[in-house]
Amino acid sequence: MAVAHDVLVVGGGGAGLRAAIAVAEADPRLSVAIVSKVYPMRSHTVSAEGGAAAVAGGDDSLDEHAYDTVSGSDWLCDQDAVEAFVGEAPRELLRLEHQGCPWSRTPDGHIAVRAFGGMRKKRTWFAADKTGFHMLHTLFQTTLSYQDIVRYDEWFVTSLLVDNGRVGGVVAIELATGRIETIIAKAVIMCTGGCGRVYPFTTNANIKTGDGMALAYRAGAPLKDMEFPQYHPTGLPFTGILITEAARAEGGWLLNKDGYRYLQDYDLGRPEPGPVLRSMELGPRDRLSQAFVHEVAKGRTTDTPYGPIVHLDLRHLGADVIDAKLPFVRELCARYEHIDPVRELIPVRPVIHYMMGGIHTDLDGAAGLDGLYAAGEAACVNINGANRLGSNSLPELLVFGARAGRAAAAFAASAGDAESQAVHAQAKDERHRLEKWLSRQGEGPDRIADLRTEMQETMENGAGIYRDEGSLAKAANELQRLRERFSDAAIDDRSRVFNTELVATLELSFMLDVAESIVTCALRRAESRGAHQRTDFPARDDERFLAHSLAHREPDGTCRVAYLPVTITRWPPSERVYGR
Ligand code: FUM
Repeated sequence: MAVAHDVLVVGGGGAGLRAAIAVAEADPRLSVAIVSKVYPMRSHTVSAEGGAAAVAGGDDSLDEHAYDTVSGSDWLCDQDAVEAFVGEAPRELLRLEHQGCPWSRTPDGHIAVRAFGGMRKKRTWFAADKTGFHMLHTLFQTTLSYQDIVRYDEWFVTSLLVDNGRVGGVVAIELATGRIETIIAKAVIMCTGGCGRVYPFTTNANIKTGDGMALAYRAGAPLKDMEFPQYHPTGLPFTGILITEAARAEGGWLLNKDGYRYLQDYDLGRPEPGPVLRSMELGPRDRLSQAFVHEVAKGRTTDTPYGPIVHLDLRHLGADVIDAKLPFVRELCARYEHIDPVRELIPVRPVIHYMMGGIHTDLDGAAGLDGLYAAGEAACVNINGANRLGSNSLPELLVFGARAGRAAAAFAASAGDAESQAVHAQAKDERHRLEKWLSRQGEGPDRIADLRTEMQETMENGAGIYRDEGSLAKAANELQRLRERFSDAAIDDRSRVFNTELVATLELSFMLDVAESIVTCALRRAESRGAHQRTDFPARDDERFLAHSLAHREPDGTCRVAYLPVTITRWPPSERVYGR
């Protein structure tokens, strides 16, 4: 006996909660449910720090926000999506304000905005440096006011059910009991976040294993622009914990081992007394991460057990600014590095932070199968192109979460029954597959955790900040071998209650699929653009590659890449210039 809903949202982070609210508002007759592998307030949105970009008035304009986003993306975004995004973002942030989000204020009561990398105007709204926490809280408490939003907390979706190109629901495990359940739904919205955990050093929580991307991909929906993972220039070296870009927006400096502000050597401007927009430490993330690699090559970084590092210097900001604007940075440094940034330098290195790519969607989140939608980091609309600007992702998940919710509601309201024999047959097969994992004896010597570590190293070495054909081909071969070894692996834990080993196994299989799509798309893109830097093809090639890559999963499990034109509305491709 299956449970059924009209709209099922997979993922309880910012995009998922915003989508569920939009469904409930659009049509109160619909039954909407959120299934999330963690309690929603533990979703990764909670750890967003620096802020959310939207034009707040003053001398800023929607066109300037759009242009910064387009040029930041190295012209790979879709400009119709960007125009919709910048237009709707202010309304979404204001709506959160009305729902209780405590945006930081100027002394006269206006919304305070700070600078952010690659933006020419100060337009990043913030709640100190705990913006994600406050946004997620606001969204979560708002969902509680809708009695019709049902929640499946700590349920893990293992498969998407599809009959003849039409979504019919999902199979999920209730983690507390191990019960395997079919959840029928007319529309499913994937809001499962990104896949940073395919790499070893990441700001991403353990839960970000590309589940929704892999579920959609396996069910026949293509993934778009997967070759563009974003490195954030300032993560803590061992844990990968984010030291927010806001620290640089407030005036922090990046120093190499000689105490030198090395970014002045990389076409990002000259040092000035205060932070200069789109310059030096406020340049875009791709350029800053690439500069770090060059500093390593020049021997100007400091070696640590966790690789080379540079330092972030906040000492000149003083305790008052740090406590008022960056209290979480101080807390993280104390807790994880045993240092005080008021007096000491913070060790940092680039760490994987965000996936520009994801499930290919249109502007309303439709993902290529009838009834399938996606939003947030799991999706690729695409407003981020080859390089996302910091603070665009929080408003993105609101704008496109709401759009996906409204579109899914409209679809579900007019769609026929999603239940079919084929859907139930698939659910039965999935149940057998899961039971098999719990009963199989291991034929191979491999442990899941070892395979995961090897996959992460493969990705960092082969598809990191710089890549070339050789490194990518090697990574593709290694991933293939890891898949073979994975198919022989077994797990020790046969219990049903919170079987984290089973979850880690299923997550690894998702990550292997996603990793393969990243490497395959990166191999095919013989140019350098934004976060995809090929040392064997160092120039941008608009003639051949001003196009989105679409990764399709073939019936034999291999990845086929096709291309889709980029939508240009008002900003023709040109050179990306910072610091001048
Ligand atoms: O550095 C940060 O606070 C990150 C922001 C973002 O990725 O948007």
